[in-house]
Amino acid sequence: MADHLLKASNVRQQLRPLLKWAGGKQWLAPSLAQLYNISASTRLIEPFAGGAALYFAAGPERAVLGDANRTLISTYRTLTRHPAKVFAELGDMRIDADTFYRIRAERPALKARIAARMIYLNRTAFGGIWRVNARGEFNVPYGCKPETSLPTLPTLRAYSIALKRAKFYASDFEETFSEPSGPADFIYCDPPYTVTHNNNGFLRYNETIFRWNDQLRLADLCNSAASRGRRVVVSNAAHRDVIRLYDKSLFFGFVIQRNSNLAPQIEYRKPQDELLLVSKSLGFTRQRISNLLQKMELLQTTPRSRGLRW
Ligand SMILES: C[S@@+](CC[C@H](N)C(=O)[O-])C[C@H]1O[C@@H](n2cnc3c(N)ncnc32)[C@H](O)[C@@H]1O
Repeated sequence: MADHLLKASNVRQQLRPLLKWAGGKQWLAPSLAQLYNISASTRLIEPFAGGAALYFAAGPERAVLGDANRTLISTYRTLTRHPAKVFAELGDMRIDADTFYRIRAERPALKARIAARMIYLNRTAFGGIWRVNARGEFNVPYGCKPETSLPTLPTLRAYSIALKRAKFYASDFEETFSEPSGPADFIYCDPPYTVTHNNNGFLRYNETIFRWNDQLRLADLCNSAASRGRRVVVSNAAHRDVIRLYDKSLFFGFVIQRNSNLAPQIEYRKPQDELLLVSKSLGFTRQRISNLLQKMELLQTTPRSRGLRW
């Protein structure tokens, strides 16, 4: 299991995400996990779970993981209950092009097969990305590194144990937000957004995956949750129209940059701005959050210094 497990820390094992996910926050998860843990939050709510990098890094006692991707949530649910069945389904999935296209063409009904197929395609598809076309069909070609391997049974069991602390929602984020929450709940929102078209192109580009109306709905829910004292952290595009949606009396805003030298692929090594909103209800000063981000080598600046009003 060594390849997917970070060093065990404290009592609970920290895991890397099981699935590589577009927009995954593995790089930001250590900072977010610190915010979660030092604020002594009791439950983590992620309405845009994806690969759930924060969940696996923070190891919360209890969590709610929601995502509109039904295959993803079904995979998490099945893995939680039946790791051995998922492992058995991986048995005939060899890592070669012929097998890849055979598995890609499958439309399984069995839940364990659906989960195994998602794990397999996620590992072996080009770029390790789960992407479906307009008909919901997985359409990424074969292409993985020679050292690629599939998870072992102990690895799947470790994920099964980790995921047992979560309740799942296969739904739009609004439904996950409807989960009753208390003041020590920590809500992390990581909607789909692009950081490459963060000027005027942003809205047009994003219309297909996350509409402007979705941004409005999300900002309303976040502002309302923060105003009721919930701890809310949001990742989003560093775009003036997005920034405008969030209540400045409730949130601190940071423009952060991933430490580009750490990115595995050269094309991601260009520094890119991202917006990080941290609600004041977490109880930290701007300076304390800023120090923490600096320690994690997340180059940061204020929205204002990027010409964005805050
Ligand atoms: C940027 S990814 C989240 C990445 C995650 N933080 C991680 O570390 O892997 C955004 C996720 O939002 C999901 N999503 C898109 N539209 C949604 C919606 N309306 N409601 C809930 N989830 C949605 C996508 O399926 C995707 O998994």
